[in-house]
Amino acid sequence: MEEFSKLLKLIEERKPKIGIIGAGYVGQSVARGALSVGFEVLCYDIDRSKITSINHQGIKNLSATDKFEDLKHRHVICICVPTPITKKKKPDLSILTKILTKLENQLQIGQLIIIESSVAPGTTRNLALPILERSKLKTGEDFFLAHSPERIDPGNFDFTIQNTPKIVSGIDDKSKKLAIAFYGTFVQKIVPVSTVEVAEMTKVLENTFRLVNISLINEVAAFAKASGIDIWEVIEAAATKPYGFLPHYPGPGAGGDCIPVLPYHLIDAAKKQNVKLKIVEAAARVNETQPQKIAQKAIQLINGKTKNGSPKVLLVGVSYKPEIADTRQSPAIKIWQHLKKSGISVVFHDPYVKQINGSTSQKLTLKTVESCDVVIITTHHKKIAYRQLLKNGTPIIDTRNIFENLNHPNIHRI
Ligand SMILES: NC(=O)c1ccc[n+]([C@@H]2O[C@H](COP(=O)([O-])OP(=O)(O)OC[C@H]3O[C@@H](n4cnc5c(N)ncnc54)[C@H](O)[C@@H]3O)[C@@H](O)[C@H]2O)c1
Repeated sequence: MEEFSKLLKLIEERKPKIGIIGAGYVGQSVARGALSVGFEVLCYDIDRSKITSINHQGIKNLSATDKFEDLKHRHVICICVPTPITKKKKPDLSILTKILTKLENQLQIGQLIIIESSVAPGTTRNLALPILERSKLKTGEDFFLAHSPERIDPGNFDFTIQNTPKIVSGIDDKSKKLAIAFYGTFVQKIVPVSTVEVAEMTKVLENTFRLVNISLINEVAAFAKASGIDIWEVIEAAATKPYGFLPHYPGPGAGGDCIPVLPYHLIDAAKKQNVKLKIVEAAARVNETQPQKIAQKAIQLINGKTKNGSPKVLLVGVSYKPEIADTRQSPAIKIWQHLKKSGISVVFHDPYVKQINGSTSQKLTLKTVESCDVVIITTHHKKIAYRQLLKNGTPIIDTRNIFENLNHPNIHRI
């Protein structure tokens, strides 16, 4: 039987062994999906604490390793490693390249390799394929290569890998069919697309769309504020339009490793085609300056008058979004850096983040609030009793509109 039919049969019989490379948010989410239909899953990671934690969970059919060669006999391998940007905002594909090179050295006949990491259009075909074909195995015949960008939304308990439609494509028809069959076992709706470039671009577009809209609303919010117009009321009114308007809300800026990062992959890919993405570039700039604006607002409010001799700010919420502990690219951390540069000390409270920047999360007591000159609400965690922040006269910068229509002299909206 040819390799394609053999693997398809294994998948249909729920018998393939799955390998996950990179057991982070995405890797563990794919692992959960595969486990849910009885696949045996092995995660490979370089982070020993992740390996120990996975192996200690004692979940049936799930194990983790730091030995790459253990992946050798996996039928389906999902690559879920980071694809960050450098300090100069250029895509950094070094981890992905390293993984592909290791795979090339032990690629087996009949394996399906799926890239789940977010990448710019062209990466699967122009980076991954040539590296894997150095093995002398041929895609579509000996091995299979697909791309299926991950769409998980950490902290969102309504949408999981199972009920979020999954974009899937392959380098060739057989690779695509196998990837569709694999995800089809545990994802309710598969969205097959014609090429891997369409799949890659779909993810990049989704994130860029978010960044552009978040930056747009932050820019317009600044104008509304200057004009004495309540932007939140404006958004609520605009959102009554039954078509053509999708509400986005002002805040301290978009964070995380996706929304502020992937548009730079797009900008870079477009530059290589001599296309300048002016709106995307502007949106990225607006997003980068937003934390600084919030820090400036705090400095203005302190205005040289401090309660305890040296200025201090309390950040409420340091993760980049509600109900998670992830602080990557968090605007709160950027606000912290700006304040620190201006000689302002910072303490924080976050029910999900115990320690960061050498500081420990403070209890949200009256004493903590009183000891600070300004409070900045940076993340909207449901667990926090925000009302208690109003119990003394400390000014509050409410970047998330927590207090909605409450008119209180301490509250400063953005
Ligand atoms: N987090 C999200 O919300 C999200 C959503 C969709 C897509 N993505 C994309 O998925 C990819 C992974 O993101 P993530 O959030 O899971 O990242 P993560 O940092 O949570 O996990 C990545 C894992 O890869 C491991 N790793 C790093 N270098 C490695 C190497 N050389 N070999 C093996 N493992 C290595 C890390 O130790 C970590 O456990 C990225 O491309 C990201 O853009 C993330």
